[in-house]
Amino acid sequence: MKIAVAGGTGTVGAHIVRLAEDAGHEVLVLSRSNGHDVAGGSGLDLSGVDAVIDAIGPSGSASKDPLRFFETATRNLLRAEQEAGVPHHVELSIVGAARSPYGYYAGKAAQERLVAAGGIPWTILRATQFYEFAETASVRLGPLLLSPKMRSQPLAAAAVAARLVELAETGPSGDAPDLAGPREWRMAELLRTILRAKQDRRRVVELPLPGGFGRALRDGACLPGPDAQLDRTSVEEWLATV
Ligand SMILES: NC(=O)c1ccc[n+]([C@@H]2O[C@H](COP(=O)([O-])OP(=O)(O)OC[C@H]3O[C@@H](n4cnc5c(N)ncnc54)[C@H](OP(=O)(O)O)[C@@H]3O)[C@@H](O)[C@H]2O)c1
Repeated sequence: MKIAVAGGTGTVGAHIVRLAEDAGHEVLVLSRSNGHDVAGGSGLDLSGVDAVIDAIGPSGSASKDPLRFFETATRNLLRAEQEAGVPHHVELSIVGAARSPYGYYAGKAAQERLVAAGGIPWTILRATQFYEFAETASVRLGPLLLSPKMRSQPLAAAAVAARLVELAETGPSGDAPDLAGPREWRMAELLRTILRAKQDRRRVVELPLPGGFGRALRDGACLPGPDAQLDRTSVEEWLATV
């Protein structure tokens, strides 16, 4: 198959690209660093592509308006797929995002709606936070690391990537079962565990975020339901691979 990976240089995207290539697929990486600007709408020739896996995320100034970023990028991608006759769009979303459409999750909710109504046969996989997210979501404040107050049942980004490649190979299946990790963590506790393993002595302070977004994170709106598929890779097993 020829698989285009939007965001193929990102945390999960790089795993998708590696796993798809290992499985013998031809891979087209769509990222700005490769000359393809999905949000800007340039370099989006998808001729011959059998499936697009969308794993892009905003960075820099685009992070200030995630709703605009995800709406624009998703519309551009779907239009390019329509023009090239791509038969399958696979989107990576977040467990609970569409139920709490505030802040960043407003962007993910809009992305889900556009994909479902976009006319390209689709699959949406909602995953919980990556183990990697504990560090990327933290903010440095002098000697401290601030971590959002959040309940999560995280998993390795590589496990999400493997499932996305499998879904691309299977063909359009609509809403896929949610994917989560083996156990619940408080994000700050997960970060402390990761830092200890790296012998990083910085202190982690848990910080409640404001508004509906902060409430969703705190109240467990991003936790998986009983029907979710679980990847059993523990934090310790994941740490041994990074
Ligand atoms: N992080 C989590 O815990 C988590 C959990 C579940 C789902 N997700 C979802 O997974 C997706 C990826 O997350 P991530 O953490 O892997 O993101 P990431 O590491 O920040 O990577 C973002 C990717 O998007 C690309 N990108 C950004 N703007 C672009 C543009 N205008 N055109 C083309 N490519 C662009 C980046 O490459 P360039 O900078 O080179 O363009 C990069 O490859 C997001 O949609 C996120 O909501 C994340």
